[in-house]
Amino acid sequence: MKIAVAKGDGIGPEIMEAVLRIFKANNVPLQYEMVEMGKWVFDKGFNNGMTPEAKQTIEQLGLLFKGPMETPKGKGVKSINVTARKTWNTYANKRVFKSLHGVDTVFSKAGIPINITIVRENIEDTYGGIEHMLTQDVALCRRFITRPGSMQVMRYAFEMASKKNAKRISCGHKANIMKITDGLFLECFYEVAKEYPHLKADDIIVDDLCMKLVTRPDLFDVVVLPNLQGDIVSDLCAGLVGGLGFAPSANIGDHISIFEAVHGTAPDIAGKNLANPTALLLSGLAMLRHVGLFDNAATIENALRYTLESGVHTGDFGNKAIPAVNTTEFADAIIGNFGKIPQEGAVAFASNASTYSPAAAITVHPMLESGQQKSEAIVGADLFIQCNQQPSALAALLEAQTKDLFKLVTISNRGTQVWPTGSVYTNLVNQYRARFESSNEKALQQADIIALYERVSKHVKVCSVELLNQWGDQKAYSLAQGQ
Ligand code: NAI
Repeated sequence: MKIAVAKGDGIGPEIMEAVLRIFKANNVPLQYEMVEMGKWVFDKGFNNGMTPEAKQTIEQLGLLFKGPMETPKGKGVKSINVTARKTWNTYANKRVFKSLHGVDTVFSKAGIPINITIVRENIEDTYGGIEHMLTQDVALCRRFITRPGSMQVMRYAFEMASKKNAKRISCGHKANIMKITDGLFLECFYEVAKEYPHLKADDIIVDDLCMKLVTRPDLFDVVVLPNLQGDIVSDLCAGLVGGLGFAPSANIGDHISIFEAVHGTAPDIAGKNLANPTALLLSGLAMLRHVGLFDNAATIENALRYTLESGVHTGDFGNKAIPAVNTTEFADAIIGNFGKIPQEGAVAFASNASTYSPAAAITVHPMLESGQQKSEAIVGADLFIQCNQQPSALAALLEAQTKDLFKLVTISNRGTQVWPTGSVYTNLVNQYRARFESSNEKALQQADIIALYERVSKHVKVCSVELLNQWGDQKAYSLAQGQ
């Protein structure tokens, strides 16, 4: 079986070399096709951070084992990691956080074992990176949560939880505030939950989840979250088990899956042979299990756990009274411990059952549609308008221009209603949202909204327009705070 391997940037090549050496020493029956991917490839002029040959190889083999890749902050190249996850539709990001004996944490000292699996939606949310400046003062990020995308991740999470006999599956969200986006994510969670009545399924608001994870982490088993919240909560969980050096990650898709550590390129220690390869090794072990190489995975994980138990550590963790080893020595110690069984957390052996084969190639984009059948009507529009006048002045201007066509219902600023009622204590920025509805209850056409836009744009700058839709008798938009 062949997999694609990208060493990555920073500490990537060092830790990848260590992990592949451990695999080779354990006769893992895999062949590795090295592909060119990373910031260094972007610097050579490849905009998506990979060569066309690398893309072709990964799509053909269906499995990518990768080191971390650098993303400059604030400006410049988009994250190669996020691009890869999104391009290949690895919709579920599974991150397993388990206590490791020998890695001291507050919880290990208190005798509280941790075994939490985070499933993070991996494609949507603010990670679409669809951002615009609407005025020179106002930035907007569009947040997409879709029904088919949420269903994909929920189906994966429930199936995985069921197979591992999870005691509980929880959905973390902020649907109390983002009623439509997080509300849809939560709705999909409970829809799929109906198919798994033997699993205890519940939901928890993400801030409460964070508090409970640091006070009673043992209460949780599988937790599924939207992308950004999942990103933050999984780093929190990494902290519970000893830090980023122990956090593996599997990006699961129907055709292509990507295995990588949660941590980044660690530029502060790159090239010094100091990095801890454990997170990448654990990600590699998840990959071995994904392809059915259970026996190899068990031997290596037991050797890793034995090594940690015996006090061997890299500089980022462990007993400071025992000198740290470097990356190469850490890998050597694991290889030397093949066949040893740790006192705690030993992994049971299972025979290899490597039945994996890449999914059949496809020639067109899969179209994901949930087939909702409710009737659709346009009942109004929100116009986002650049303006630095008082709300009443803007309202007078808008009403004068539009009242024969539309009813001006509300004006809000940063989501808070400031007209027809509101408080002068609400600070304003130079961008308003004006909500218009049909003045005669008649269904509207897109052309009506264009006419509205045309009229208003003669007097003020319209930065953006959003239709107000209605599905059946249900409003498909949120109300302004205070409306
Ligand atoms: P980082 O994870 O690279 O480093 C944070 C801290 O943890 C540093 O002090 C680092 O030395 C330490 N650390 C991380 N991994 C370690 C390891 N294996 N052994 C020992 N110490 C380790 O996060 P940072 O500095 O925010 O990001 C650096 C770069 O990595 C950025 O360009 C970022 O975009 C990228 N990145 C890439 C990821 C990926 O490829 N999946 C994920 C996260 C960040």
